[in-house]
Amino acid sequence: MDTWDKLKHDCAGCRRCSLGDTRQHLVFGDGNPEAEVMFIGEGPGEQEDIQGVPFVGPAGQLFDKMMEMIDLDRKKVYIANIVKCRPPRNRDPLNVEQDACREWLSRQVQLINPKIIVCLGRISAQAIIKQDFRITKEHGEWFNIDGRRVMATYHPSALLRDVSKRPEAFMDLRAIRKEIRSVCDRTY
Ligand code: URA
Repeated sequence: MDTWDKLKHDCAGCRRCSLGDTRQHLVFGDGNPEAEVMFIGEGPGEQEDIQGVPFVGPAGQLFDKMMEMIDLDRKKVYIANIVKCRPPRNRDPLNVEQDACREWLSRQVQLINPKIIVCLGRISAQAIIKQDFRITKEHGEWFNIDGRRVMATYHPSALLRDVSKRPEAFMDLRAIRKEIRSVCDRTY
């Protein structure tokens, strides 16, 4: 049987891809390991690499506000990324890097066993929902994957770059709140 201690031990010091050569910290995850809702981003940025915690830079500040809008916070949800180490200059993680990292995220998902997964941005949606996911077209849609409800919304970095996307993201957040009320038992 897998445990958090075993997973953290196995993941610590990972050198399965070359992102391990340039990272300052491996960013494992943050939040409540018993959460019913899990958010999955793309990969650590500069601040996350420095601090070892996901979503603590400018995008993270917006992400915290987005959660607050639907009565969530880091104590209620779990937050992780598709890749656990920062890609140089914040480039998109390569497929080979995503594949090398996949075991850690899938073990996190198994241990948490969330009812709802929210993918933040295209990279996460393409890794979790389907390879040809189109974020502008398919954000806000619910998918059933392995018995979980899964949706993607815009990445907070995209909402920092393009504020015109914010009303659509707000609609997604409202749909997430509604789904939480309908399928979650605890916490909310
Ligand atoms: N962007 C992400 O996708 N993840 C983080 O942890 C920070 C920024």
